[in-house]
Amino acid sequence: MRPTLRSAAGWAVLALMLMQFIPLGRLNPDPPSPLRAPAPILQALGKACYDCHSYRTRWPRAAYVAPLSWFIAHSVRNGRDALNFSDWDQSRILQSDSLKNTILMVIGKGSGHQQMYYILNPEARLTASEEAALVTWLKAAGMQH
Ligand code: HEC
Repeated sequence: MRPTLRSAAGWAVLALMLMQFIPLGRLNPDPPSPLRAPAPILQALGKACYDCHSYRTRWPRAAYVAPLSWFIAHSVRNGRDALNFSDWDQSRILQSDSLKNTILMVIGKGSGHQQMYYILNPEARLTASEEAALVTWLKAAGMQH
C-alpha cells in the first residue's frame, strides 16, 4: 500500500511540473481602439473590469503556476471575447445595441459577476459611488467611441 501511495504522489508532482511548460496566451497586446470616456469612468472600469475585459490585464502571480494559470488564462480569454474595452470597435460590432444593457446588468450584479475574483481581489470591487457614476454614464448614451 505505502509504495503505491508514494509513487502516486511522485507522479502527481511530476505531472504538476510538466504542466508548467504548457504555453498560454498570457499576453497584453497594444490596445487597438481603447474606450474613450471621462477619467473617473475609465478609472472605475479599469479597477473592476480591465483584468478580464481589456488588454491591460494585471496578471497575478498565480497566473504563472499551472493548473491555476489555466483557469485564469481561460477566464481572461472568455472575458475579452465577451467584451474588450481595449478593442472597443470590435466589441461594438459584436454586441451592438444590447451591449449597454448587458453592462448595466453586470454592474447591477456587483461582485456577483465573477464572485471568486472579487473575493480574492476585494480592492477591485466598485464602490457605491463608482457604480452610480457608471450607471449614469451608461444611461446617458456614454458608450460612443
Ligand atoms: C475575473 C474576470 C472578470 C472580471 C473582473 C469581470 N468580468 Fe465580465 N466576464 C468575464 C467572463 C469570463 C465573461 C464571459 C461570460 C461568463 O463566463 O460569465 C464575462 C462576461 C461579461 C459580459 C457579457 C455578458 C455576460 O454576463 O456574459 C459583460 C457585459 C461583462 N462581463 C461586464 C463586466 C464588467 C462591466 C466588469 C467590471 C465591473 C466585469 N465584467 C468584470 C470575466 C470577468
